[in-house]
Amino acid sequence: MQSNLLKKAREYESTHSQNITPEQRPAFHLSSLVGWMNDPNGFSYYDGKYHLFYQYHPYDLRWGPMHWGHAVSTDFIRWEFEPCALAPDEQYDSFGCFSGSALETADGKHLIMYTGVEEVQAEDGTKQIFQTQCVAVGDGVNYEKYQANPVIDKRHIPEEFSTVDFRDPKIWQEADGSYRVVVANRHADGSGALLVFRSQDAYQWEFETVLDQSFNEIGKMWECPDYFKLDGKDVILISPQDMTQQGLEFHNGNGTVYIVGTYNDSTKKIQRETVQAIDYGLDFYAPQTLLTPDGRRVMVAWMQNWDACVPPPAPLPWYGQMTIPRELSVKNGKLIQNPVRELEQYRGHGVNHSTTLSEETMLQGVCGRVVDMTVEIEPTVDGSYQKFTMKLASGTRYFTSLTYNAADSILHFDRNHSGLCRDIVSERRFHVRNQQGKLKLRILMDRFSVEIFVNDGEQAFTSTIYTPLSSDGITFACDGELNLSVEKFDLNL
Ligand code: FRU
Repeated sequence: MQSNLLKKAREYESTHSQNITPEQRPAFHLSSLVGWMNDPNGFSYYDGKYHLFYQYHPYDLRWGPMHWGHAVSTDFIRWEFEPCALAPDEQYDSFGCFSGSALETADGKHLIMYTGVEEVQAEDGTKQIFQTQCVAVGDGVNYEKYQANPVIDKRHIPEEFSTVDFRDPKIWQEADGSYRVVVANRHADGSGALLVFRSQDAYQWEFETVLDQSFNEIGKMWECPDYFKLDGKDVILISPQDMTQQGLEFHNGNGTVYIVGTYNDSTKKIQRETVQAIDYGLDFYAPQTLLTPDGRRVMVAWMQNWDACVPPPAPLPWYGQMTIPRELSVKNGKLIQNPVRELEQYRGHGVNHSTTLSEETMLQGVCGRVVDMTVEIEPTVDGSYQKFTMKLASGTRYFTSLTYNAADSILHFDRNHSGLCRDIVSERRFHVRNQQGKLKLRILMDRFSVEIFVNDGEQAFTSTIYTPLSSDGITFACDGELNLSVEKFDLNL
Protein backbone atom coordinates (compact mmCIF):
# COMPACT_ATOMS: atom_id res chain seq x y z
CA MET A 1 0.00 0.00 0.00
CA GLN A 2 1.37 3.37 -0.99
CA SER A 3 0.85 6.15 1.53
CA ASN A 4 -0.41 9.53 0.37
CA LEU A 5 3.00 11.06 1.07
CA LEU A 6 4.76 8.51 -1.14
CA LYS A 7 2.16 8.90 -3.89
CA LYS A 8 2.56 12.65 -3.76
CA ALA A 9 6.38 12.39 -4.01
CA ARG A 10 6.16 9.97 -6.93
CA GLU A 11 3.71 12.17 -8.81
CA TYR A 12 5.77 15.27 -8.13
CA GLU A 13 9.05 13.77 -9.29
CA SER A 14 7.57 12.22 -12.41
CA THR A 15 6.03 15.56 -13.48
CA HIS A 16 8.94 17.82 -12.57
CA SER A 17 11.80 15.63 -13.81
CA GLN A 18 10.46 15.92 -17.34
CA ASN A 19 11.66 19.51 -17.51
CA ILE A 20 15.29 18.54 -16.85
CA THR A 21 17.36 17.83 -19.96
CA PRO A 22 20.32 15.40 -19.98
CA GLU A 23 22.65 18.34 -20.81
CA GLN A 24 21.72 20.00 -17.52
CA ARG A 25 23.04 16.98 -15.64
CA PRO A 26 26.43 15.35 -15.26
CA ALA A 27 26.96 12.76 -18.03
CA PHE A 28 27.96 9.77 -15.88
CA HIS A 29 27.55 10.80 -12.25
CA LEU A 30 24.18 10.28 -10.60
CA SER A 31 22.37 13.52 -9.78
CA SER A 32 19.07 13.97 -8.00
CA LEU A 33 15.99 13.12 -10.10
CA VAL A 34 14.49 16.41 -8.89
CA GLY A 35 15.15 18.55 -5.83
CA TRP A 36 17.83 17.78 -3.25
CA MET A 37 20.14 14.77 -2.79
CA ASN A 38 22.60 13.94 -0.02
CA ASP A 39 24.10 10.67 1.23
CA PRO A 40 24.14 7.48 -0.85
CA ASN A 41 21.88 4.89 0.79
CA GLY A 42 21.10 1.21 0.25
CA PHE A 43 23.99 0.72 -2.18
CA SER A 44 23.52 -2.95 -3.05
CA TYR A 45 23.24 -5.58 -5.76
CA TYR A 46 19.77 -7.01 -6.16
CA ASP A 47 17.91 -8.72 -8.98
CA GLY A 48 20.72 -8.28 -11.52
CA LYS A 49 21.23 -4.56 -10.87
CA TYR A 50 23.13 -2.18 -8.67
CA HIS A 51 20.73 -0.16 -6.57
CA LEU A 52 21.71 3.27 -5.34
CA PHE A 53 19.22 5.06 -3.12
CA TYR A 54 19.85 8.52 -1.78
CA GLN A 55 18.74 11.02 0.86
CA TYR A 56 16.15 12.98 -1.04
CA HIS A 57 13.94 16.02 -0.69
CA PRO A 58 12.10 16.11 -3.99
CA TYR A 59 10.27 19.38 -3.44
CA ASP A 60 13.18 21.75 -2.92
CA LEU A 61 16.83 22.35 -3.79
CA ARG A 62 17.50 22.39 -0.05
CA TRP A 63 17.49 19.68 2.61
CA GLY A 64 14.04 18.94 4.04
CA PRO A 65 11.96 15.97 5.27
CA MET A 66 14.01 13.06 4.05
CA HIS A 67 12.66 10.59 1.51
CA TRP A 68 14.71 7.92 -0.27
CA GLY A 69 15.32 8.50 -3.99
CA HIS A 70 16.25 5.47 -6.06
CA ALA A 71 18.31 4.67 -9.17
CA VAL A 72 19.59 1.45 -10.74
CA SER A 73 22.45 0.55 -13.04
CA THR A 74 24.05 -2.55 -14.50
CA ASP A 75 27.50 -0.95 -14.81
CA PHE A 76 27.76 1.93 -12.28
CA ILE A 77 27.99 4.44 -15.15
CA ARG A 78 24.55 4.71 -16.70
CA TRP A 79 21.83 5.18 -14.12
CA GLU A 80 18.10 4.89 -14.53
CA PHE A 81 15.72 6.37 -12.03
CA GLU A 82 13.16 4.32 -10.15
CA PRO A 83 10.27 5.94 -8.29
CA CYS A 84 10.86 7.37 -4.82
CA ALA A 85 11.27 4.39 -2.47
CA LEU A 86 10.50 5.75 1.01
CA ALA A 87 8.56 8.74 2.31
CA PRO A 88 8.46 9.91 5.95
CA ASP A 89 4.91 8.63 6.37
CA GLU A 90 4.97 6.89 9.77
CA GLN A 91 5.02 8.41 13.24
CA TYR A 92 8.46 6.89 13.96
CA ASP A 93 9.99 8.44 10.81
CA SER A 94 7.80 11.52 10.51
CA PHE A 95 10.81 13.85 10.79
CA GLY A 96 12.60 11.90 8.05
CA CYS A 97 13.80 8.58 6.69
CA PHE A 98 17.49 9.09 7.32
CA SER A 99 20.43 7.18 5.86
CA GLY A 100 20.77 3.42 5.79
CA SER A 101 21.71 0.41 3.74
CA ALA A 102 20.22 -2.61 1.96
CA LEU A 103 20.87 -6.25 1.15
CA GLU A 104 19.19 -9.29 -0.36
CA THR A 105 17.75 -11.71 2.20
CA ALA A 106 17.79 -15.51 1.91
CA ASP A 107 14.19 -15.49 0.63
CA GLY A 108 15.08 -13.21 -2.29
CA LYS A 109 13.67 -9.96 -0.89
CA HIS A 110 15.42 -6.59 -0.90
CA LEU A 111 15.69 -5.45 2.70
CA ILE A 112 16.33 -1.82 3.60
CA MET A 113 17.46 -0.75 7.04
CA TYR A 114 17.24 2.99 7.72
CA THR A 115 17.01 5.49 10.53
CA GLY A 116 13.56 6.71 11.44
CA VAL A 117 13.63 10.15 12.99
CA GLU A 118 10.78 11.37 15.14
CA GLU A 119 10.38 14.75 16.74
CA VAL A 120 8.65 14.55 20.11
CA GLN A 121 7.30 17.48 22.07
CA ALA A 122 7.99 17.27 25.79
CA GLU A 123 5.54 18.53 28.43
CA ASP A 124 7.48 21.80 28.79
CA GLY A 125 7.01 22.43 25.06
CA THR A 126 10.60 21.72 24.05
CA LYS A 127 11.11 19.45 21.08
CA GLN A 128 13.40 16.49 21.04
CA ILE A 129 14.54 14.25 18.24
CA PHE A 130 14.72 10.47 18.57
CA GLN A 131 16.49 8.21 16.14
CA THR A 132 15.68 4.51 15.77
CA GLN A 133 16.52 1.80 13.25
CA CYS A 134 13.74 0.60 10.98
CA VAL A 135 13.25 -2.00 8.25
CA ALA A 136 11.41 -2.00 4.92
CA VAL A 137 11.22 -4.89 2.50
CA GLY A 138 10.59 -4.83 -1.22
CA ASP A 139 11.01 -6.16 -4.73
CA GLY A 140 13.48 -3.58 -6.06
CA VAL A 141 10.80 -0.95 -6.79
CA ASN A 142 8.19 -0.92 -4.01
CA TYR A 143 9.02 -1.23 -0.34
CA GLU A 144 6.76 -2.03 2.61
CA LYS A 145 7.75 -0.80 6.05
CA TYR A 146 7.78 -3.53 8.71
CA GLN A 147 4.69 -3.23 10.87
CA ALA A 148 6.64 -3.66 14.13
CA ASN A 149 9.16 -0.88 13.41
CA PRO A 150 11.41 0.31 14.91
CA VAL A 151 13.55 -2.80 15.24
CA ILE A 152 16.38 -1.18 17.22
CA ASP A 153 15.70 1.61 19.67
CA LYS A 154 16.39 2.73 23.24
CA ARG A 155 15.66 -0.79 24.53
CA HIS A 156 18.84 -1.98 22.80
CA ILE A 157 21.19 0.94 23.43
CA PRO A 158 23.73 0.40 26.20
CA GLU A 159 24.10 2.96 28.97
CA GLU A 160 26.27 5.99 28.17
CA PHE A 161 25.10 6.00 24.55
CA SER A 162 22.64 8.34 22.91
CA THR A 163 19.03 7.88 21.79
CA VAL A 164 19.21 11.23 19.98
CA ASP A 165 22.31 10.64 17.86
CA PHE A 166 21.86 7.06 16.72
CA ARG A 167 21.79 6.65 12.97
CA ASP A 168 22.93 5.38 9.58
CA PRO A 169 22.80 1.57 9.94
CA LYS A 170 25.04 -0.48 7.62
CA ILE A 171 23.80 -4.06 7.54
CA TRP A 172 25.63 -7.17 6.32
CA GLN A 173 25.28 -10.93 6.49
CA GLU A 174 27.86 -13.22 8.06
CA ALA A 175 28.93 -16.52 6.50
CA ASP A 176 26.67 -18.42 8.95
CA GLY A 177 23.63 -16.51 7.66
CA SER A 178 23.18 -14.28 10.71
CA TYR A 179 23.06 -10.52 10.36
CA ARG A 180 25.11 -7.70 11.82
CA VAL A 181 24.54 -3.99 11.66
CA VAL A 182 26.90 -1.18 12.60
CA VAL A 183 25.16 2.02 13.69
CA ALA A 184 26.73 5.39 14.45
CA ASN A 185 26.12 6.74 17.94
CA ARG A 186 27.31 9.48 20.25
CA HIS A 187 28.93 8.43 23.50
CA ALA A 188 28.33 10.38 26.72
CA ASP A 189 31.77 11.96 26.17
CA GLY A 190 30.18 13.84 23.26
CA SER A 191 31.99 12.03 20.49
CA GLY A 192 31.28 9.25 18.02
CA ALA A 193 31.09 5.51 18.53
CA LEU A 194 30.13 2.51 16.43
CA LEU A 195 27.61 0.11 17.95
CA VAL A 196 27.24 -3.35 16.44
CA PHE A 197 24.04 -5.37 16.86
CA ARG A 198 23.37 -8.97 15.81
CA SER A 199 20.29 -10.81 14.60
CA GLN A 200 19.26 -14.16 13.14
CA ASP A 201 16.46 -12.74 10.99
CA ALA A 202 17.16 -8.99 10.56
CA TYR A 203 14.12 -8.13 12.74
CA GLN A 204 15.04 -9.18 16.31
CA TRP A 205 18.27 -7.49 17.30
CA GLU A 206 20.57 -7.54 20.29
CA PHE A 207 23.55 -5.40 21.16
CA GLU A 208 26.92 -7.03 20.46
CA THR A 209 29.82 -4.60 20.83
CA VAL A 210 31.28 -1.11 20.54
CA LEU A 211 33.50 -1.66 17.52
CA ASP A 212 35.48 1.56 17.87
CA GLN A 213 34.96 5.08 19.16
CA SER A 214 36.40 8.55 18.84
CA PHE A 215 37.21 9.42 22.47
CA ASN A 216 37.08 12.99 21.15
CA GLU A 217 40.15 12.37 19.01
CA ILE A 218 38.66 11.85 15.54
CA GLY A 219 35.97 14.51 15.39
CA LYS A 220 32.70 14.51 17.35
CA MET A 221 29.64 12.57 16.15
CA TRP A 222 30.51 9.91 13.59
CA GLU A 223 28.06 9.56 10.71
CA CYS A 224 27.48 6.97 8.00
CA PRO A 225 29.72 4.09 9.10
CA ASP A 226 30.71 1.19 6.90
CA TYR A 227 32.65 -1.91 7.92
CA PHE A 228 34.05 -4.73 5.76
CA LYS A 229 36.93 -7.11 5.25
CA LEU A 230 39.27 -6.38 2.37
CA ASP A 231 42.55 -7.95 1.35
CA GLY A 232 42.99 -9.62 4.73
CA LYS A 233 42.29 -6.46 6.75
CA ASP A 234 39.29 -4.97 8.53
CA VAL A 235 38.25 -1.59 7.22
CA ILE A 236 35.98 1.02 8.81
CA LEU A 237 34.74 4.09 6.96
CA ILE A 238 33.29 6.98 8.96
CA SER A 239 32.20 10.56 8.31
CA PRO A 240 33.02 12.45 11.52
CA GLN A 241 31.53 15.86 12.24
CA ASP A 242 33.49 18.74 13.76
CA MET A 243 36.91 17.53 12.70
CA THR A 244 39.97 19.71 13.14
CA GLN A 245 42.81 19.85 10.69
CA GLN A 246 46.04 18.01 11.60
CA GLY A 247 48.89 19.28 9.45
CA LEU A 248 47.65 18.71 5.90
CA GLU A 249 45.80 15.54 6.96
CA PHE A 250 42.05 15.99 7.48
CA HIS A 251 40.35 19.36 7.35
CA ASN A 252 38.01 21.29 9.59
CA GLY A 253 34.34 20.40 9.67
CA ASN A 254 32.76 17.30 8.16
CA GLY A 255 35.51 14.87 7.23
CA THR A 256 35.83 11.32 6.00
CA VAL A 257 38.20 8.87 7.63
CA TYR A 258 39.17 5.27 7.03
CA ILE A 259 40.55 2.95 9.66
CA VAL A 260 42.47 -0.10 8.53
CA GLY A 261 43.06 -2.57 11.32
CA THR A 262 42.45 -6.02 12.70
CA TYR A 263 39.28 -7.21 14.40
CA ASN A 264 40.04 -8.84 17.71
CA ASP A 265 37.67 -11.78 18.20
CA SER A 266 37.87 -11.77 21.98
CA THR A 267 37.45 -8.02 22.62
CA LYS A 268 35.20 -7.62 19.54
CA LYS A 269 36.97 -4.35 18.79
CA ILE A 270 39.17 -3.04 16.03
CA GLN A 271 42.85 -2.63 16.66
CA ARG A 272 43.72 0.37 14.54
CA GLU A 273 46.71 0.32 12.23
CA THR A 274 46.07 3.20 9.82
CA VAL A 275 43.80 6.22 10.29
CA GLN A 276 43.70 8.46 7.25
CA ALA A 277 41.48 10.70 5.14
CA ILE A 278 39.42 8.83 2.55
CA ASP A 279 39.40 11.74 0.12
CA TYR A 280 41.44 14.95 0.29
CA GLY A 281 38.97 17.05 -1.65
CA LEU A 282 36.37 19.70 -1.00
CA ASP A 283 33.25 17.73 -1.85
CA PHE A 284 33.15 14.20 -0.55
CA TYR A 285 31.04 12.82 2.31
CA ALA A 286 29.13 9.83 3.66
CA PRO A 287 30.70 7.08 1.49
CA GLN A 288 29.08 3.66 1.40
CA THR A 289 30.24 0.40 -0.21
CA LEU A 290 28.86 -2.77 -1.76
CA LEU A 291 30.35 -6.07 -2.82
CA THR A 292 29.88 -6.88 -6.52
CA PRO A 293 29.03 -10.41 -7.68
CA ASP A 294 32.63 -10.70 -8.98
CA GLY A 295 34.02 -9.82 -5.53
CA ARG A 296 34.96 -6.14 -5.86
CA ARG A 297 34.42 -3.74 -2.96
CA VAL A 298 32.99 -0.59 -4.57
CA MET A 299 32.50 2.73 -2.77
CA VAL A 300 30.32 5.69 -3.71
CA ALA A 301 29.97 8.99 -1.83
CA TRP A 302 27.96 12.16 -1.86
CA MET A 303 29.97 14.59 -4.05
CA GLN A 304 29.30 17.52 -1.78
CA ASN A 305 30.12 18.59 1.74
CA TRP A 306 27.72 20.20 4.22
CA ASP A 307 29.98 23.20 4.85
CA ALA A 308 30.17 24.07 1.16
CA CYS A 309 26.51 23.60 0.20
CA VAL A 310 25.70 26.81 -1.59
CA PRO A 311 23.58 27.27 -4.68
CA PRO A 312 25.62 27.03 -7.90
CA PRO A 313 26.22 30.42 -9.60
CA ALA A 314 23.91 29.55 -12.49
CA PRO A 315 20.88 27.75 -11.11
CA LEU A 316 20.48 24.07 -11.98
CA PRO A 317 17.18 22.21 -11.58
CA TRP A 318 18.70 19.62 -9.18
CA TYR A 319 21.05 19.71 -6.19
CA GLY A 320 23.58 17.01 -5.30
CA GLN A 321 25.65 14.46 -7.17
CA MET A 322 27.32 11.15 -6.34
CA THR A 323 31.01 10.43 -6.98
CA ILE A 324 32.11 7.90 -9.57
CA PRO A 325 31.87 4.50 -7.88
CA ARG A 326 35.40 3.47 -6.89
CA GLU A 327 37.03 0.04 -6.58
CA LEU A 328 38.81 -0.34 -3.27
CA SER A 329 41.78 -2.39 -2.21
CA VAL A 330 44.21 -2.37 0.71
CA LYS A 331 47.95 -2.25 0.04
CA ASN A 332 50.56 -1.85 2.76
CA GLY A 333 47.83 -0.95 5.21
CA LYS A 334 46.50 1.88 3.02
CA LEU A 335 43.20 2.20 1.19
CA ILE A 336 43.60 2.38 -2.59
CA GLN A 337 40.74 3.66 -4.75
CA ASN A 338 40.28 3.82 -8.50
CA PRO A 339 37.27 4.46 -10.75
CA VAL A 340 35.27 1.31 -11.51
CA ARG A 341 36.74 -0.44 -14.53
CA GLU A 342 33.35 -0.26 -16.30
CA LEU A 343 34.10 3.38 -17.15
CA GLU A 344 36.77 2.26 -19.62
CA GLN A 345 34.07 0.68 -21.82
CA TYR A 346 32.84 4.19 -22.55
CA ARG A 347 36.20 5.51 -23.71
CA GLY A 348 35.87 6.93 -27.20
CA HIS A 349 38.33 8.95 -29.23
CA GLY A 350 41.71 9.13 -27.50
CA VAL A 351 44.78 11.34 -27.92
CA ASN A 352 48.31 10.78 -26.63
CA HIS A 353 51.04 13.34 -26.16
CA SER A 354 54.60 12.98 -24.91
CA THR A 355 56.48 16.22 -24.78
CA THR A 356 59.02 18.31 -22.92
CA LEU A 357 57.13 21.07 -21.16
CA SER A 358 58.71 24.43 -20.45
CA GLU A 359 56.02 27.07 -20.97
CA GLU A 360 52.23 27.22 -20.68
CA THR A 361 50.90 24.84 -23.31
CA MET A 362 47.65 23.54 -24.69
CA LEU A 363 47.78 20.14 -26.29
CA GLN A 364 45.91 19.27 -29.49
CA GLY A 365 42.66 17.51 -28.62
CA VAL A 366 43.11 17.88 -24.84
CA CYS A 367 40.14 19.91 -23.63
CA GLY A 368 36.54 19.40 -22.56
CA ARG A 369 34.34 19.06 -19.51
CA VAL A 370 33.58 15.34 -19.87
CA VAL A 371 37.04 13.87 -19.74
CA ASP A 372 39.00 10.78 -18.67
CA MET A 373 42.65 11.78 -18.71
CA THR A 374 45.92 10.41 -17.31
CA VAL A 375 48.79 12.85 -16.82
CA GLU A 376 52.33 11.78 -15.93
CA ILE A 377 55.26 14.06 -15.21
CA GLU A 378 58.90 13.52 -14.36
CA PRO A 379 61.90 15.82 -14.22
CA THR A 380 64.12 16.05 -17.29
CA VAL A 381 67.76 15.09 -16.89
CA ASP A 382 68.67 18.57 -15.66
CA GLY A 383 65.88 18.20 -13.06
CA SER A 384 65.05 21.86 -13.34
CA TYR A 385 61.33 22.11 -12.52
CA GLN A 386 59.92 22.96 -9.11
CA LYS A 387 56.30 23.65 -9.89
CA PHE A 388 53.86 22.08 -12.33
CA THR A 389 50.43 23.64 -12.89
CA MET A 390 47.38 22.49 -14.78
CA LYS A 391 44.37 24.65 -15.44
CA LEU A 392 41.08 22.88 -15.91
CA ALA A 393 37.71 24.22 -17.07
CA SER A 394 39.65 27.20 -18.25
CA GLY A 395 38.38 30.09 -20.39
CA THR A 396 38.97 33.79 -20.76
CA ARG A 397 37.77 34.46 -17.24
CA TYR A 398 37.48 31.22 -15.31
CA PHE A 399 39.79 28.36 -14.41
CA THR A 400 40.47 25.83 -11.68
CA SER A 401 44.13 25.14 -10.99
CA LEU A 402 46.02 22.13 -9.77
CA THR A 403 49.63 22.76 -8.80
CA TYR A 404 52.26 20.26 -7.81
CA ASN A 405 55.14 21.56 -5.76
CA ALA A 406 58.00 19.11 -6.24
CA ALA A 407 60.18 20.29 -3.34
CA ASP A 408 57.65 19.40 -0.63
CA SER A 409 55.51 17.07 -2.77
CA ILE A 410 52.29 18.97 -2.11
CA LEU A 411 49.32 19.10 -4.47
CA HIS A 412 47.34 22.32 -4.31
CA PHE A 413 43.83 22.54 -5.77
CA ASP A 414 42.22 25.95 -6.16
CA ARG A 415 38.70 26.65 -7.44
CA ASN A 416 38.61 30.32 -6.40
CA HIS A 417 38.38 31.35 -10.05
CA SER A 418 35.87 28.71 -11.08
CA GLY A 419 32.99 31.18 -11.16
CA LEU A 420 31.75 30.70 -7.59
CA CYS A 421 29.76 33.60 -6.22
CA ARG A 422 29.81 32.49 -2.60
CA ASP A 423 32.84 32.62 -0.32
CA ILE A 424 33.09 28.92 0.43
CA VAL A 425 36.23 26.88 1.02
CA SER A 426 37.90 26.64 -2.37
CA GLU A 427 41.46 25.50 -1.81
CA ARG A 428 43.07 22.41 -0.45
CA ARG A 429 46.69 21.31 -0.09
CA PHE A 430 47.78 17.76 0.62
CA HIS A 431 50.97 15.72 0.67
CA VAL A 432 51.42 13.02 -1.94
CA ARG A 433 54.16 10.39 -1.97
CA ASN A 434 57.46 12.01 -2.85
CA GLN A 435 58.99 10.40 -5.94
CA GLN A 436 61.58 13.05 -6.78
CA GLY A 437 59.32 15.05 -9.06
CA LYS A 438 57.51 12.11 -10.62
CA LEU A 439 53.71 12.10 -10.39
CA LYS A 440 50.79 10.30 -12.02
CA LEU A 441 47.26 11.67 -11.99
CA ARG A 442 44.08 10.22 -13.42
CA ILE A 443 41.58 13.04 -13.77
CA LEU A 444 37.87 12.59 -14.39
CA MET A 445 35.77 15.59 -15.24
CA ASP A 446 32.02 15.48 -15.69
CA ARG A 447 30.63 18.95 -16.39
CA PHE A 448 30.34 20.04 -12.76
CA SER A 449 33.07 18.03 -11.04
CA VAL A 450 36.71 17.00 -10.95
CA GLU A 451 37.96 13.76 -9.40
CA ILE A 452 41.68 13.12 -9.16
CA PHE A 453 43.28 9.73 -8.45
CA VAL A 454 46.90 10.18 -7.43
CA ASN A 455 49.62 7.60 -8.20
CA ASP A 456 47.28 4.78 -9.22
CA GLY A 457 44.74 5.48 -6.50
CA GLU A 458 46.99 5.98 -3.46
CA GLN A 459 44.97 9.10 -2.75
CA ALA A 460 41.85 10.67 -4.18
CA PHE A 461 40.63 14.23 -4.39
CA THR A 462 37.09 15.30 -5.27
CA SER A 463 35.59 18.71 -5.96
CA THR A 464 32.55 20.18 -7.63
CA ILE A 465 33.05 23.09 -10.00
CA TYR A 466 30.10 25.00 -11.38
CA THR A 467 32.06 26.91 -14.03
CA PRO A 468 30.10 27.80 -17.19
CA LEU A 469 30.47 24.85 -19.57
CA SER A 470 31.92 27.09 -22.30
CA SER A 471 35.13 27.22 -20.22
CA ASP A 472 36.52 23.91 -21.36
CA GLY A 473 40.24 24.56 -21.85
CA ILE A 474 43.03 22.53 -20.25
CA THR A 475 46.56 23.95 -20.01
CA PHE A 476 49.87 22.67 -18.68
CA ALA A 477 52.74 24.79 -17.37
CA CYS A 478 55.90 24.48 -15.30
CA ASP A 479 58.56 26.81 -14.02
CA GLY A 480 61.54 24.95 -15.52
CA GLU A 481 61.39 21.87 -17.66
CA LEU A 482 59.78 18.44 -17.30
CA ASN A 483 58.70 15.47 -19.35
CA LEU A 484 54.95 15.37 -19.72
CA SER A 485 52.81 12.59 -21.05
CA VAL A 486 49.05 12.88 -21.42
CA GLU A 487 46.53 10.30 -22.49
CA LYS A 488 43.05 11.73 -22.85
CA PHE A 489 39.80 10.05 -23.83
CA ASP A 490 36.42 11.39 -24.71
CA LEU A 491 33.67 9.42 -23.04
CA ASN A 492 30.78 8.19 -25.20
CA LEU A 493 27.81 8.34 -22.91
C1 FRU B 1 25.02 12.63 6.81
C2 FRU B 1 23.68 12.73 7.48
C3 FRU B 1 23.34 11.40 8.14
C4 FRU B 1 21.84 11.43 8.18
C5 FRU B 1 21.51 12.14 6.90
C6 FRU B 1 20.29 13.01 6.96
O1 FRU B 1 25.19 13.50 5.76
O2 FRU B 1 23.68 13.78 8.43
O3 FRU B 1 23.93 11.19 9.40
O4 FRU B 1 21.29 10.16 8.24
O5 FRU B 1 22.63 12.94 6.57
O6 FRU B 1 19.93 13.46 5.70
